[in-house]
Amino acid sequence: MREAQIIVPFQVFAYEELSVEDRELVDMAKAMTATSYSPYSRFQVGAALRLADGQVFKGSNQENAAFPSGLCAERTAFFAASANAPEVPPVTLAIAARTGGHFLENLVAPCGACRQSLLEAETRFNQPIRVLLYGTSSTYVIQSIRDLLPLTFDGSELP
Ligand code: THU
Repeated sequence: MREAQIIVPFQVFAYEELSVEDRELVDMAKAMTATSYSPYSRFQVGAALRLADGQVFKGSNQENAAFPSGLCAERTAFFAASANAPEVPPVTLAIAARTGGHFLENLVAPCGACRQSLLEAETRFNQPIRVLLYGTSSTYVIQSIRDLLPLTFDGSELP
């Protein structure tokens, strides 16, 4: 037996320290929280995904009375991008969340299913997707979906 560990690198920025491009994307994710349909959780999530050609696709969480039929903000944005610009690699995803009228102080992080969905694009285009996790206190910048989902199943073992 031997111990092993996985180290996840990320950067912590104050909102004002982000590049203009990243700040724009965070602002779009924040604005998208207003379009969230979340009568059940009252947790409003917004996402904005920039593609390599500069296009941005946006999403928010869409809930349903049959709970599992709803979809997270991240996948709403990602699937819209993949459906409308299938050949363009995603490069940066920003996520923000609001509840009780306030943006979260601590960041909101994508669920496992969203990470797995985004991993598919990272694998398909062989290009990392940066992730900006916004909180009012700081924004975490992660350089790759793989950093958020170590020991991935990306289909490379499939026959
Ligand atoms: N949700 C997202 O849209 N993204 C996340 O990263 C976390 C959770 C949504 C799903 C559901 O509509 C609500 O937030 C509460 O879980």
